[in-house]
Amino acid sequence: MAELVLQLNEINKYFNNNHVIKNVNMTFEKGEFITFLGPSGCGKTTLLRMIAGFYEPDEGEILLKGKRIDKVPPYNRNTAMVFQEYALFPHMSVFDNVAYGLSVKKLPQDEVAKKVKVALEMMQLVGMEQRYPNQLSGGQQQRVAVARALVMDPDVLLLDEPLSNLDAKLRETVRVELRHIQQEIGLTTIYVTHDQSEALSMSDKIVVMKEGVIHQIGSPQEIYFEPNTTFVADFIGTTNLLKVEVLGEHKVKYGATEIVVEQTVDSGKEYSLSIRPECIKLTGNAVDQEGEACVKGKITEKMFLGEKVRYFLRDTQDKEWVVDIFDPGKTLFTGEVYIVFADNKAWLIEHNKLDD
Ligand SMILES: Nc1ncnc2c1ncn2[C@@H]1O[C@H](COP(=O)(O)OP(=O)(O)OP(=O)(O)O)[C@@H](O)[C@H]1O
Ligand SMILES: [Mg+2]
Repeated sequence: MAELVLQLNEINKYFNNNHVIKNVNMTFEKGEFITFLGPSGCGKTTLLRMIAGFYEPDEGEILLKGKRIDKVPPYNRNTAMVFQEYALFPHMSVFDNVAYGLSVKKLPQDEVAKKVKVALEMMQLVGMEQRYPNQLSGGQQQRVAVARALVMDPDVLLLDEPLSNLDAKLRETVRVELRHIQQEIGLTTIYVTHDQSEALSMSDKIVVMKEGVIHQIGSPQEIYFEPNTTFVADFIGTTNLLKVEVLGEHKVKYGATEIVVEQTVDSGKEYSLSIRPECIKLTGNAVDQEGEACVKGKITEKMFLGEKVRYFLRDTQDKEWVVDIFDPGKTLFTGEVYIVFADNKAWLIEHNKLDD
């Protein structure tokens, strides 16, 4: 059985009258890499700070390895947090910054030195031990902050956008290294990022939030292919969302196009379909084939991107579509075309109270 490390039960947080975290429930197992994803201001940092102990929830409880910690001060819970603004000690060298937490714990000097060395190697900071934060670039400071947290061997490592100041290449390297170390030592990690591809490529689980509400918790594949709400579908990657009418138990209609869906639909409810741009074909003639849906459209714009062409279209209901055609060859589509997709590539989303 997987070991439960972190539990958040019915968490609510207010800043004055601003209800910023709304009834949040989640559980995480040892060794999981979890990412909080959502637009700016949705509450990611606030949630992380409550887990670390820098904010107290107004309602609800947080359990770390089965013990209530929501009233325990940060230094007495075995969590380590890397802040969005990294917060290094300016008057301490890189070495002392990273060693600080271990020294406070009164670990023997040689053990401290050994652990710091490993953390600095991991973060590619060897040779910078004696520098001060103001002698480092933003990206280097960020890596010192990650090293300072890693060295503590926490039960949960909390990282708030820790790679945002790194250039694309270094970011990729540190990301791979971090994920490698995390898996090797089975470190439970919560990671906040704006970068969807970072979230999709690194995480075991993604938590998608909007305005303090969790819309979905799932694996990257679940989040991408089986979004719970239209917000999740739209926020992760690009998608085409179609409002549909219910025709039968397993049948919906978009304009004149009928689509068979796996799930049972209810005529009293509202639904949308989400169809990813890469799941669509364009054809010159209408297709009338079992299991495929066909919508007439007109190309309004196209972008040649080498491996694919991204088409923008408008259908007869004036709805905009995005379609990606891979390995496009030299001849591109123009004018009126048919937008064709397999019924089973259309994911059905029931509108619920989370949707606007
Ligand atoms: N200390 C505070 N006092 C009052 N309001 C706050 C405080 N900290 C955050 N907020 C508000 O709470 C909401 C959530 O903020 P939070 O920093 O958690 O968002 P975020 O998801 O981390 O955003 P970003 O991606 O921009 O970092 C915002 O509306 C913010 O203005
Ligand atoms: Mg934040």
